[in-house]
Amino acid sequence: LANGLGQTPPMGWNSWNHFNCQINEKIIRQTADALVSTGLSKLGYTYVNIDDCWAELNRDNKGNLVAKKSTFPSGIKALADYVHSKGLKLGIYSDAGYFTCSKKMPGSLGHEFQDAKTFASWGIDYLKYDNCFNDESKPTVRYPVMTRALMKAGRPIFFSLCEWGDLHPALWGARVGNSWRTTGDINDSWDSMITKADSNEVYADLAKPGGWNDPDMLEVGNGGMTKNEYIVHFSLWAISKCLLQAPLLLGCDIRNVTKETMEIVSNKEVIAVNQDSLGVQAKKVRMEGDAEIWAGPLSGYRVAVVLLNRGPQQSLPITANWDDIGIPPKTVVEARDLWEHKTLEKHFVNKLSATVDSHACKMYVLKPIA
Ligand code: GLA
Repeated sequence: LANGLGQTPPMGWNSWNHFNCQINEKIIRQTADALVSTGLSKLGYTYVNIDDCWAELNRDNKGNLVAKKSTFPSGIKALADYVHSKGLKLGIYSDAGYFTCSKKMPGSLGHEFQDAKTFASWGIDYLKYDNCFNDESKPTVRYPVMTRALMKAGRPIFFSLCEWGDLHPALWGARVGNSWRTTGDINDSWDSMITKADSNEVYADLAKPGGWNDPDMLEVGNGGMTKNEYIVHFSLWAISKCLLQAPLLLGCDIRNVTKETMEIVSNKEVIAVNQDSLGVQAKKVRMEGDAEIWAGPLSGYRVAVVLLNRGPQQSLPITANWDDIGIPPKTVVEARDLWEHKTLEKHFVNKLSATVDSHACKMYVLKPIA
């Protein structure tokens, strides 16, 4: 969407994966504090996004959405002011239907212009817009109404389409929003994560600056996967240009973030792949049984590569051939291992091989030197 936002995938946090409906303004404030105190905001994680369940079930007598008094007593404007005072941005959630997906809030269908104005007046910077309980008209008709409403609201608001089922949003999303879901909801397990990465990969060619495929938010740090599996999760989301919702949106409790989670989500070199100015989503360029090679170009003629072992048991030797990953034959390449944080001493010609443990990956940036 040509609103100037999302030139690189958005990065930040969203409340849903960890807290579901159990949210309140204290959690949101403390999360903003923690994004700053952990140093994550400096790395680019700047959106603090409130998901479903922040509003009263009834609009006020003028038809305006109102924050739930019991959990957001100070209101959303005060929260936005607080979040902005920390140098961060505030996101919110609504739905292109009569109710949101939890059925705990009214949706924005038929109230698009009023709600967009409300969001802008509160200082909202990002809207996630879901598709539950709609009138069964086409999303290609319902979603653009909110696009127009946001563009008239007088404030730049990143528009995240949370629709993946009815009509392949990847095919029409770029005209309507800054990102679109390519999958159903993720959960905190290897199978869920890896199948989301697969479904998202299909649409690689449709992602570009201003409009990103969204394989749903990160589960890193929520406890359901091993460290290696979370490294795969983060590597694939990063290379698929999916932070802040492939966008890289963290989904764990930042207030109690562990050293291990920090080690993963604060990997600057992996984040740099996600945020690279070329903005090209990687693809799965080769599959051999459980071994896969994902690769995509970066600025400066560099290439990002993930060697992935999807198998449940043994480690596997995996080879990336220049032919498969888009490097001209005979090119000599320097390889940086992004998880070991070291540049390999050896230079590589025509291929690079490594042994990869089960449910684990290696991630490199390859730089031609001759
Ligand atoms: C849908 C979305 C989730 C979350 C919930 C909230 O399931 O896909 O990401 O926003 O609704 O109810």
